[in-house]
Amino acid sequence: MANNIRYVKVADKKEGADVVLERMREELAGGLEVLGLATGSTMEPIYAAWADSDLDFSGVTSFNLDEYVGLGADNPNSYAWFMNHHLFSKKPFMETNIPDGTADNLKEECEEYEARLRDAGIDLQFLGVGENGHIAFNEPGTPFTSNTHVTQLAESTLGVNSQYFEDRSAIPETALTMGIASILSAKKIILIAFGEKKRFALEQLVKGEETTEYPITALLGHPDVTIITDLNGIK
Ligand code: GLP
Repeated sequence: MANNIRYVKVADKKEGADVVLERMREELAGGLEVLGLATGSTMEPIYAAWADSDLDFSGVTSFNLDEYVGLGADNPNSYAWFMNHHLFSKKPFMETNIPDGTADNLKEECEEYEARLRDAGIDLQFLGVGENGHIAFNEPGTPFTSNTHVTQLAESTLGVNSQYFEDRSAIPETALTMGIASILSAKKIILIAFGEKKRFALEQLVKGEETTEYPITALLGHPDVTIITDLNGIK
């Protein structure tokens, strides 16, 4: 799909957060109702800027991308805790949805989550990217047709993300994640990538070839994608 990806180069995270804040303001003014949200350090300055702003999310329903299996909202390493801490405790939403990593039946939880998000229809989905090119927790090799599912985290992801856990053995090795098809069902997508560690992943996208080896390249098949990055020389 030609010219579906717009690259916005920013000087740093601060300018990135400003650009996203203005884009969010336009989307809300344009009637956005369903927002797809991401976690990770990339999103922290973004949510801090939203929390400090006059943006009104009280009419918005959100869907988060993923959650570790076994971690509940009371665990500071869960994505539910991250969202409450960085955004939901500061900005009221009409409704928030995060896959429940503590559900008794994880397969059923995934199916219900997928049905809910498809029924709502995501207007705008935010994404970060893993150093290996993963989006949400869709690791290399995940089919582009995947819906919300239970996934095994890649060794490299466990290595990178374990920095947030007390020790390497404390990080769950499985997670619930929206699938690639779930993500692509959003009307618009914004992916944010800051810092040299993300260069390799963005370079795979710039090459312009879809391959399951690099899940980020699935975005080449979506009609409305914006990449916000501080990396020089990426388009
Ligand atoms: C995790 C999340 C992804 C996120 C990625 C990048 O693996 N599941 O959704 O994009 O981390 O995280 P960070 O922003 O901390 O680099």
